[in-house]
Amino acid sequence: MHHHHFAYSESERRSRQDPEAILNSLGLKPGMCFVDLGCNDGFFTLPAAKLVGSSGQVYAVDVDDTALSRLEIKLKNENINNTHVIHGPAETTDVCEGCADIVFLGMVLHDFSDPLKALSNCSTMLSDSGIVYDYDWKKQASQFGPPYEIRFSKEYVKQLASLANLKAISELDYDDDFYLIKLRSINGE
Ligand SMILES: C[S@@+](CC[C@H](N)C(=O)[O-])C[C@H]1O[C@@H](n2cnc3c(N)ncnc32)[C@H](O)[C@@H]1O
Repeated sequence: MHHHHFAYSESERRSRQDPEAILNSLGLKPGMCFVDLGCNDGFFTLPAAKLVGSSGQVYAVDVDDTALSRLEIKLKNENINNTHVIHGPAETTDVCEGCADIVFLGMVLHDFSDPLKALSNCSTMLSDSGIVYDYDWKKQASQFGPPYEIRFSKEYVKQLASLANLKAISELDYDDDFYLIKLRSINGE
């Protein structure tokens, strides 16, 4: 599915959204294992790869071959070697079991065909102390972004999460447009 908010360029997008600042606010650090679920062409993947560095790992997962090819080219151009690009659905693609320090859902949960199944899959990939971050459009009308109808409210995400064995440990309004929900496994530390 293609939404109009993807029609603009990376620099236009960066003028409204700072991926490094967002990733820093998640506590992403050198050496961590980061899963970018629904990565598209890597708006968050590349900054994450640079942040975790050579001692860290990034897994970038999407179903869009064209976007993944663009991502591969960017990784190659920037000489980034810690990132695994994986073609597969968020619902069933396990990059690992219990390895992820952070599973990141960047403006994407509402796009998955089965968001609940995708969240359960996040739960499988998390390490004991791992965190799922759902960063997404607030459920409100706005000039940019997906139509109101398809957006998920924070309350809805928390409901889905609880069915996927995840509990919300914090939720905040990241800015006027986006919220950030922090989830961890009910069975985790
Ligand atoms: C709005 S984009 C967000 C991409 C990225 N996180 C970003 O911020 O640039 C949504 C992405 O989800 C991907 N997608 C949709 N359904 C998917 C699924 N079931 N499994 C994996 N990726 C999916 C699309 O191909 C698209 O690249």
